[in-house]
Amino acid sequence: MAIRVTKAVIPAAGLGTRFLPATKAMPKEMLPVVDKPAIQYVVEEAVAAGIVDVLMITGRNKATLENHFDRVGELEAALERKGDIDRLKKVTYSSDLAEVHYLRQGDPLGLGHAVLQAKMHVGVQPFAVLLGDDIIDERDHLLQRMLNVQAERNATVIALQEVDSSHAHLYGIATVSPTNESDVVRVNGLVEKPEPGTEPSNLAVIGRYVLQPQVFEVLASTKPGQGGEIQLTDALQVLSADETIAGGVYGVVFKGRRYDTGDRVDYIKAIVELAVEREDIGPELRPWLKRFAEGLD
Ligand code: UTP
Repeated sequence: MAIRVTKAVIPAAGLGTRFLPATKAMPKEMLPVVDKPAIQYVVEEAVAAGIVDVLMITGRNKATLENHFDRVGELEAALERKGDIDRLKKVTYSSDLAEVHYLRQGDPLGLGHAVLQAKMHVGVQPFAVLLGDDIIDERDHLLQRMLNVQAERNATVIALQEVDSSHAHLYGIATVSPTNESDVVRVNGLVEKPEPGTEPSNLAVIGRYVLQPQVFEVLASTKPGQGGEIQLTDALQVLSADETIAGGVYGVVFKGRRYDTGDRVDYIKAIVELAVEREDIGPELRPWLKRFAEGLD
């Protein structure tokens, strides 16, 4: 019988160098997207898919993250005194979302190394990994679909999205073959950030994974790869090449709305896209944005 996935790991220990100096004293996962830090969207998504236990892998600036998902007595008391119940709800919501645990990565030796830190917490069950700088629109149930595929196939499941070939060198890229389900592919190989023009397909790995616990053994023996970092993609490459280790690797091809907040231009686009759809600020923002766009050459 399939085991229900209840634990998620959110690595948030990267240096966030593309956002310096904003990320000098705070992780990039805490950058606000409209009025919520990016990582809160991600925790909300995990909870909506049935995750109850979240482990955040933190780096040198862990305090802001921990504070965000904790109670803030003074603020709550002040809002209560003012009778500002709407804002009080917003403040307490993030602390009541899920059981959140924290673990330090020490040195940021790469995403694979960050995931490896979760070994003791996760134990021997499949688990989800969500990257805090990729936001999936709440109307698209990508993680839920991935969990279903994991339960059906008892394999590793990654999320793939078609990207323009000019962007392929920024991602892990998969070599795939079809399965009997139109949105699911068998992953036969993976390469991290291929040299421009050498990418084996235009299917890029995006920041959602459902991993088998065997990934920890593979990560423990994965040598630093691209950029001198221990790459999760390299461990997935090993798992994709040998179905006997943990059932192989499958990809769910995602065609929904994804907002990449790890890159400065994409971050701004994400804020605009999400803000214009909001009932509270969209109506004021839309006409201004149209006028502003008309004035651009
Ligand atoms: P990125 O490569 O996008 O993050 O890692 P980064 O290194 O912080 O970004 P830049 O390029 O310097 O701006 C993908 C995810 O893996 C986490 C990051 O926090 C991010 O969510 N990560 C990366 C870790 O937790 N530890 C690491 O050692 C590296």
